[in-house]
Amino acid sequence: MRILIHENYQSLSKWVAYYLANKINQAKPTAKKPFVLGLPTGSSPVGTYQELVQIYKQGKVSFQNVVTFNMDEYVAIPEEHPQSYHYFMWSHLFSHIDIKKENVNILNGNAPNLEKECDQYEEKIKKMGGIDLFLGGIGEDGHIAFNEPGSSLSSRTRVKTLTYDTRVANSRFFENDIKKVPKLALTVGVGTVMDSREVVIIISGYNKARALHQVVEGSVNHIWTVSMLQLHRKGMIVCDDNSTMELKVGTVRYFKDIEQQTLNNLPEL
Ligand code: GLP
Repeated sequence: MRILIHENYQSLSKWVAYYLANKINQAKPTAKKPFVLGLPTGSSPVGTYQELVQIYKQGKVSFQNVVTFNMDEYVAIPEEHPQSYHYFMWSHLFSHIDIKKENVNILNGNAPNLEKECDQYEEKIKKMGGIDLFLGGIGEDGHIAFNEPGSSLSSRTRVKTLTYDTRVANSRFFENDIKKVPKLALTVGVGTVMDSREVVIIISGYNKARALHQVVEGSVNHIWTVSMLQLHRKGMIVCDDNSTMELKVGTVRYFKDIEQQTLNNLPEL
């Protein structure tokens, strides 16, 4: 697993955006063989999305032949609700780039049959040939997508009950009223993410320090579901200095040293 420790959120976001754009360009995607990208919501990827929009506006990347699959969505809030992940993705990214509407996939939390919706999502990913790169964030308890502590590490897309902690954390988007935060969500499984050819996880801020410690220095376990990244063949964490507060000094120095070149250069476009 690679760990890139950037100085701050801004440089981390820029680096990840260039990395994604570089991957898309390198793949030379076509309508027949598109680049399949998994995407998260939350505050962690916002800076990356802003940078991606800039790179697109500069004509350095196109999303014409990119197919996206989002990680998760709340159950039973309308798509046009400002806190739905549909709304988030269109307002932060999709409306500002040249992606085709039919190439955007987001779980439908209002589907009449939620289990069927999840199974079809898995099928569609398979039909597209799998996900080339899954970008993710994590919760303070180390959950990836909505795979809360105790989720099976081989789980697939399904309905999940959100923990109290996650609902408290996300209540900041719902007028700080936990009662307004949905109790259920649809989410890709840990197994779904791990099947991707590459996984890149953004971790930023002091509040994620405990989770970063667990995934880097702890063992693989179902409580900190992101720890499964240790078993992925091509897993990378891109984090900032603030999130490293619970890591050993030696661990931080080791990864800063080994990735020095990478940290000093933006991926080429
Ligand atoms: C939610 C999302 C996750 C996200 C997490 C952290 O739980 N389902 O995908 O990683 O929030 O969000 P933030 O980046 O805002 O800290």
